[in-house]
Order: sequence, then C-alpha cells, then structure tokens
Amino acid sequence: MFTPLEEVHFQYFVQHLESNQILLDEEGRKAYGKDHTEDLSFPPELVVFPKSTEEVSMIMAYCYQNNLPVTPIGARTGLSGGALSVHGGVGLCLERMNAILKIDEDNQQVLTQPGVITQVLQEKVAECGLFYAPDPASRGTCFIGGNLAENSGGPRAVKYGVTKDFVLNLEVVLPNGEIIQTGANTLKNSTGYNLTQLMVGSEGTLGVITSATLKLLPLPRLNRLMLVPFRSATDACRAVSGIFKAGLSPSALEFMERDAVLLAQKFTGEAPFPLSDECQAQLLIEMDGNDEEEVMKQCELVMTTLDAFDPEDVFFAESEAQKEKLWFLRRRVGEAVKAHSIYKEEDTVVPRFALPELLSGVKEIGQSFGFESVCYGHAGDGNLHVNILRGDLDQETWDHQLPKAITKIFELCVALGGTLSGEHGIGLVQKEYMPIAFGKVQLDLMRSIKKAFDPKGILNPGKIFPEQK
Ligand code: LAC
Ligand code: ZN
Repeated sequence: MFTPLEEVHFQYFVQHLESNQILLDEEGRKAYGKDHTEDLSFPPELVVFPKSTEEVSMIMAYCYQNNLPVTPIGARTGLSGGALSVHGGVGLCLERMNAILKIDEDNQQVLTQPGVITQVLQEKVAECGLFYAPDPASRGTCFIGGNLAENSGGPRAVKYGVTKDFVLNLEVVLPNGEIIQTGANTLKNSTGYNLTQLMVGSEGTLGVITSATLKLLPLPRLNRLMLVPFRSATDACRAVSGIFKAGLSPSALEFMERDAVLLAQKFTGEAPFPLSDECQAQLLIEMDGNDEEEVMKQCELVMTTLDAFDPEDVFFAESEAQKEKLWFLRRRVGEAVKAHSIYKEEDTVVPRFALPELLSGVKEIGQSFGFESVCYGHAGDGNLHVNILRGDLDQETWDHQLPKAITKIFELCVALGGTLSGEHGIGLVQKEYMPIAFGKVQLDLMRSIKKAFDPKGILNPGKIFPEQK
C-alpha cells in the first residue's frame, strides 16, 4: 500500500526543518523503532522532531499530499506497539514539544504540550497545590501525549479516574495538516459530538495531539500505604470488592502475585517487607485524604474488612522512604518480568467483582496450554496484567498455540463483562483479537470514523484494526 520514501521526500524535510530536527542514520532510526512491547523493532525511514504545532501541520500536510505513512512517537514506553512504524515512512516524534504552557490556578487547569513527562507535570502542578492523578507505572519517563493516545491509567485511577477523565480540550493536527480544537476549556460541555474523548485513546490514528488542556484537582495532603499478604491469590482478589462494599474509596489498590513480588525484589534488589513462605499474593492499599485521623480510621476499616479474607499480618509503611520503596518495587514489576524471560503481556480488564474468576480462569488456561503466567495489576479497577512467560515453550507452541490460549483468555474477559485492554491499548499486538470484543457492526463503525479523519489511511497505519483477510 505504501512505497518507500523517495529522495525528493527526504529533501523536502531537509529543506523545511533544521538539521537537528531530522534523524536519518540507522542506529538512530532503530532507537525510534522500538518501544517497551516485547522485542519488536520497526524503524521509520526517517524521524522528524517538530518544535511547534505549525511544524507538525506542515509535516502532516506534506505526507498527506504524498501518501506517506506517519507514525506519531512519544517516549516509547508503550506496551501494545502503538508507536512502532510498521509501514516505515515518517516517524513523527513529539519529544521536543515538551513545554508546560500554562498552569491556570484560578480554573485548576493546565495547558501542556504532548512531550512533557507525566511525573514532571505532576510535580510542577503540585508546587501550586494541584493534583494531576493519572500515574502509569512509567510516569518517570512516559509522555502526556502517549498517555492521551492510549488513555493510560495507573494505580490512582481507581479513585480519580484514568487519563480521559482529566482531559477538557485538545489541539489536534489532522492527517491532512489542518489544526483544530476538539472542545472547550470547560468542565461541562454538551456541545455536539465529543471529539475530545474520541481522540483520547485513539492511539495516534485519528490526529496528532499538539496540546492538551487538563483538569486538575486539589492535591490530597496525606496518605497511608499498607501491604497486605494473603495465603491465597484468589482470596486476595475476593477481598478487593469487599473493600468497596464497605464504602471505602482507596487511592490505590494493587495486586501482585507471589512471583511478581519475587521477580521485582530480584530486579530492584529491594525487599521493603519480608515475604513469608505461605504468602501467595499481596495487596498494596493506599488511603489518602487531608485529615490524619480520618485517614487512619479508613485504614482501620480496611483492616477489619480484610479479616474476612484470611490475610497474614498487615505491614504499614512507616515513612515516606518506605512508601517510596514499596511503590518502586510495584512499578518495576513489568520491567522485572521482561528482564526474567521472553513474555507476552495481556492487559485484561473485568468488572472488579469478577477478578477472582478471571485470575483462576487465566491459571486454568495456562495449565491446559502448558504456560506459566505472572499476574499483577490494578485490582481495584479489575485490571489484571497477565504476563505469559516463554519458559521452555518451543517456537511452534509460542507462535501457534499461544494465540489460541490468548483468545481463550480474552473470551473469558468478555464473558465476564470485561474487555481486551484496560490501559495499554490495542496498537499492533492485540489487533487480531479485536473481533472477540466487537462484532462487524462496531468494527465497521470504527473504520468509518478512521476514514472520516484520515481518508488516505496515512496516520499510524497497521494499528487497532485486524487485518482484513
Ligand atoms: C503497570 C504497567 C505495566 O501497571 O501498566 O506496571
Ligand atoms: Zn498497569
């Protein structure tokens, strides 16, 4: 469908951008052809680094006229291959558009460019007593732009919502180069179709987000963090809905099965709390607020509620440093698994009450197909990251049997009222499974939306939609 870039195309970018805004050498292109998804590598034919919306518009308009594939690229921390240039072409990297343009304290909003690191944005607004809650595990390196593209979540989503819940308005460059605002900088908006929310989670297939107006909250003043070990992983999962039924609203409720803890301990060299021989899983529970006594009361209620699920002794983080260590360990699980074995990650999500059934179903499917999995994730959201380990599986099983097993896992998710991805997106690696979540009618609707934005199909081609056979 696309032919390789011609000399005249390279010349165009050389003439219209500064020399430090273009990357042509093989090593550089390779670096921009990888993200955190398995060991996949799809280098673009050249990488461009626009510094302004106008430059993004100029690049898109040229590519549109000349039918060149464009793949938006952020910090390359994605886990579904959304930023990989599967058709070669132009890699459009937003890393130089990394300014926080305005913190509007009066309206509790921030206007930011897409290349700002999520944690940097959080820390900047926190200086004004404001809170941007979405906190993917990679928040120290990922970009707001990628978070918007994938509708990222993270531990605090359970109380405060995911990226989409913080987006008020976006500036977007359409595939043909036109620049639009999707909405308004208001908390309420009933004006026409919601283009803002259509753009969030569209994985860079409908337009390039060049700035975002995000909602902020007052910064909660304090939190308590506790680690609760369980002898049974399903009991740990059962306890999750018990906590909400007790009327509690934790600001994080994370699940790690034993192997996830062990791998993260090995990877980080840290073991902030002992892991007993009996412990099969842990819940990491954070309660936040502004009143010390009130937060303590909530923690006590968590403990009383958990008693019904046979936990081992609960550990409280006694200091900020100890909290940091626990979060450090939790945020490194993904990398720890990657360092341990070749693996495939599924970002399963179900209504939270179905979590125990999902976990035991995944393990049963593993047994019947002969694979091991390491499971962890955002239990409060019913969002379980299932990491399937390559272990001793031969190539034939890995290539041909595993997709069948993954199909079974996703069918189970859908049967439980869930779906394929909670926060990592479909991108490249999950697209063939889309028909499990959607029938032809919905997929055709989505294809029509894609066509309305991008009639030539040049923007991030090869993502989200299953290949039509
Ligand atoms: C996490 C990433 C993988 O939760 O989403 O650690
Ligand atoms: Zn996650």
